[in-house]
Amino acid sequence: TWTTEAFVDEAIREIRAKVGDKRVLLALSGGVDSSTLAFLLHKAIGDQLTCVFIDQGFMRKLEPERLVKLFQEQFHIPVEYVKARDRFLAAIAGVTDPEEKRRRIGHEFIKAFEDASKRLGPFDYLAQGTLYPDVIESADTNVDPKTGERVAVKIKSHHNVGGLPKDLRFKLVEPLRKLFKDEVRKVGRSIGLPDEIVQRQPFPGPGLAIRILGEVTEERLEILRDADLIVRQEINRNGIYNQLWQAFAVLLPIRSVGVMGDQRTYAYPIVLRLVSSEDGMTADWARVPYDLLETISNRIVNEVRGVNRVVYDITSKPPGTIEWE
Ligand code: XMP
Repeated sequence: TWTTEAFVDEAIREIRAKVGDKRVLLALSGGVDSSTLAFLLHKAIGDQLTCVFIDQGFMRKLEPERLVKLFQEQFHIPVEYVKARDRFLAAIAGVTDPEEKRRRIGHEFIKAFEDASKRLGPFDYLAQGTLYPDVIESADTNVDPKTGERVAVKIKSHHNVGGLPKDLRFKLVEPLRKLFKDEVRKVGRSIGLPDEIVQRQPFPGPGLAIRILGEVTEERLEILRDADLIVRQEINRNGIYNQLWQAFAVLLPIRSVGVMGDQRTYAYPIVLRLVSSEDGMTADWARVPYDLLETISNRIVNEVRGVNRVVYDITSKPPGTIEWE
């Protein structure tokens, strides 16, 4: 029978046998896959592992700091924290087309990753949190036709961008490649990852940048981070976080009229997107209690400057998508 202990022992043996005394680079994203991966590799090869966390500036409020703190202080795994907010914001300045935004963010990610790998390298291997479904999906593309060995062609957290440049095509270490998502969660829990990582809802690689429709600015990011934090806090307080596939806020780049005290306001609306789903392919808007919606709405309009209206998205997928971009 499959147990997490047996899996961890076997994975560590396998990593050591494969890597020997070589160096491994890992891009930490904050998700359960890359976190579990980092933990296993660190246990197996210690300081031959270098974890890089690239902060694009599009994560949820406080998440980058918490992630780095968790790894460094609780797990004693050093993390190279690359603060790259400015270059990512500059890369998408003035861009309003959703796919162009994704393309540029993905491209910038690869450049930032390349810089980090040159600065900290050289590395022989790249650790990727490839899961069993990903292996099946990319059966041919990741195999070097000459050696038959699996090599890195794409960065997992940014699969929607083109490939890695030739000199970044490291050999791969993929200790999670026989696991399904629920098994990774079990392993993650067994090695002591906190619920906030193990049960984390899916979060897109381009992050909040695709939850601000149209142009992304620091001012809009700040508004969305604050609104999004309120959504998360209230969903958690209500105890339904784990029942929802995703729960988040979207900022629309329009303004509407409102009133506050005896002042007329003219500010952004926030959309609440709360969905239930099995796999993200189809989804239904969540029938959450009105009281919860009321609390979220009141808090957002009262606490987040620049927002004067909250609307609830009652569209299923299809025909809507989960994200708004
Ligand atoms: P949609 O919006 O297509 O989303 O219904 C389905 C699932 O995919 C996630 N998503 C992304 N994930 N990069 C990602 O890593 C992306 O560009 C991206 N766009 C959507 C979305 O959050 C949902 O879970």
